[in-house]
Amino acid sequence: MKHIFITGASSGIGLAIAKLLVGEGHEVWGTSRNLQRIPKMPRCHAVRLDLADRLSIEDAFNAALTEAGYFDVLINNAGAGHFDPAEFLPMETIASQFQILVFGQIQLMQLALRHMQARGEGLIINVTSLASRLPVPFMAAYNSAKAALAAFTMSIQLELADSPVHIVDLQPGDISTQFNKSVVQSAKAERYDSKIAKTWEIVERNMKKAPGPDLVARHVLSLVNAVRPPPRKTVGNVFESKIAPMIFRFLPQRVRLWGLKRYYGI
Ligand SMILES: NC(=O)c1ccc[n+]([C@@H]2O[C@H](COP(=O)([O-])OP(=O)(O)OC[C@H]3O[C@@H](n4cnc5c(N)ncnc54)[C@H](OP(=O)(O)O)[C@@H]3O)[C@@H](O)[C@H]2O)c1
Repeated sequence: MKHIFITGASSGIGLAIAKLLVGEGHEVWGTSRNLQRIPKMPRCHAVRLDLADRLSIEDAFNAALTEAGYFDVLINNAGAGHFDPAEFLPMETIASQFQILVFGQIQLMQLALRHMQARGEGLIINVTSLASRLPVPFMAAYNSAKAALAAFTMSIQLELADSPVHIVDLQPGDISTQFNKSVVQSAKAERYDSKIAKTWEIVERNMKKAPGPDLVARHVLSLVNAVRPPPRKTVGNVFESKIAPMIFRFLPQRVRLWGLKRYYGI
């Protein structure tokens, strides 16, 4: 039985992971900005945490650590997106995306890492996104924040080469959750209207036919049980998780851009 801290356990991928882990007998500390949103389950402790608030992150993690005594696993899962033309994205929006998707997650990773290094074991799973490699148009702040966390994760992996603490970059492709409902759209500009509409149509279509969050939960369970977890794991349908990233790797940048524009019809 492991002690596991997971952010964003109130919905979608995080909730599916929390349910599977408690079902397997693990003890889970799951976070939300609103404690009422975490379903009552045996062996699941609800923790209030807002990634937008630096102080709440440290307080929430330390309080949970005191209660748990130790953590074997941190799953940095919580996140939300923003959909708007990069040209008009307000700096505050970009900063808030980076606070939630990069700085808050790094803060938690550092807190957990220090604790796990002292214990001599541990696993940290950072949920980034396939969008860090195959960006979605009009989600520039989200794509780049996920890419930043992926690069930070790889940098730590280099530095921790012989450490007993393992870090995994978990990159989901499209997974059917409430994610699109919480994507904020604001500063529309007429010039981009038709491209925005076309892209959103594809984004919604992909979400509707995407696999459910249980798929990610099953991969997370195998990472939790692995002796030597892989540094990066891509999860999604076969095209998104295997074929597209492999083809993309070998294409020149001009062809990548052409392919993505065609894919989104813009
Ligand atoms: N679904 C996909 O297709 C997909 C693909 C690639 C990557 N991902 C990533 O997977 C992760 C989970 O997404 P999901 O699809 O499961 O979305 P979701 O159903 O919308 O769940 C998002 C979770 O994040 C929490 N959250 C949102 N903003 C937060 C904040 N400021 N502070 C603390 N918690 C916050 C939410 O909790 P409360 O609202 O209760 O606070 C919720 O539990 C995200 O990092 C997302 O970027 C998703």
